[in-house]
Amino acid sequence: MIVLGVESSCDETSVAIVKDGKEILSNVVSSQIDIHKEYGGVVPEIASRCHTERITLVFEEALKAANLEPKDIDLVAVTQGPGLIGALLIGIGAAQAFAYAHKIPIIGVNHIAGHIYANNIENDLKFPLLSLVVSGGHTELVLMKAHNDFEVLGQTLDDAVGETYDKVGRVINVEYPGGPVIDKMAFLGEDTYNFPRVYLDKQGFDFSFSGLKSAVINFVHNKNQRNEEINKYDLARSFQESVTDVLVYKTYEAAKKYNVKQIIIAGGVAANKGLREKLLNTITDFEICMPSIKYCTDNAAMIAICGYYAQDKLDKQFEIDGMPNLDL
Ligand code: KG4
Ligand code: ZN
Repeated sequence: MIVLGVESSCDETSVAIVKDGKEILSNVVSSQIDIHKEYGGVVPEIASRCHTERITLVFEEALKAANLEPKDIDLVAVTQGPGLIGALLIGIGAAQAFAYAHKIPIIGVNHIAGHIYANNIENDLKFPLLSLVVSGGHTELVLMKAHNDFEVLGQTLDDAVGETYDKVGRVINVEYPGGPVIDKMAFLGEDTYNFPRVYLDKQGFDFSFSGLKSAVINFVHNKNQRNEEINKYDLARSFQESVTDVLVYKTYEAAKKYNVKQIIIAGGVAANKGLREKLLNTITDFEICMPSIKYCTDNAAMIAICGYYAQDKLDKQFEIDGMPNLDL
């Protein structure tokens, strides 16, 4: 079965073609990061315009790279939400037009579920599994007992991890998105600044990152006011250690409590080398899988795979609305 996936929820325009929920025949990703960098973050209006300009070309490239024609596609899967509404609607409109024109069924996919299914590319999902979801807008621990069965065990009560990375990046004047830059800098510094680890209730699985964000921002402002030097590499490392200590601790506790067969990670921050290393070094009695870096950030291959495993929902999904706050 050949599924064509479409992703446009934020700042990547992507179309992919995947066979049987696994084999990637093409995965074209057109990133707008260089455009949004100038503004220090994603500008929704500009994102919508860029998607509009690029989506047709990205469709064509994906078909060409897979050496397929529209008649070869069995199902279209498109990101329905969560995301920026204007951006979502461009992908949904294009996917619907393509599906209707070629009489192909179409299904709406949850973007976060898509991130989770990126793990099916290089590994096989084994249930029950625990997924640590860490992206620009989400931080969640999700239990899956079967395909398409998501139980959110805990989530952030305030800022998402990726958002926190990007805000810290802004106060230390690194390019947007700050996440990957801080990750690299962290490996050149030491954890000398001892920022707080916010566990909330240690038995629970909710997260909070706004306190850590404020601690880092206040620290930088105080040092600046006193004209004192900050070692940015030590700051990056100290911040990253605080974040990853909490993420790894809660993941381990949840994995033990629910006795899962597998731990996976999902979302843009899953590309974080510090997090990947700490998970593997700390948790040695569970199978841990992670997508390779290129499948951690937004792409349509993960959407196609998620659509493949969501086919039983197909009959309800002919009309697809953009849903900016769609839950798992
Ligand atoms: O999943 P994603 O591509 O988009 C959303 O669905 O939100 O995630 C983007 C987020 C950004 O906040 C970015 O800074 C973060 O993922 N990110 C990282 C790394 N690579 C991307 N954060 C920390 N370390 C990284 N290596
Ligand atoms: Zn994403």
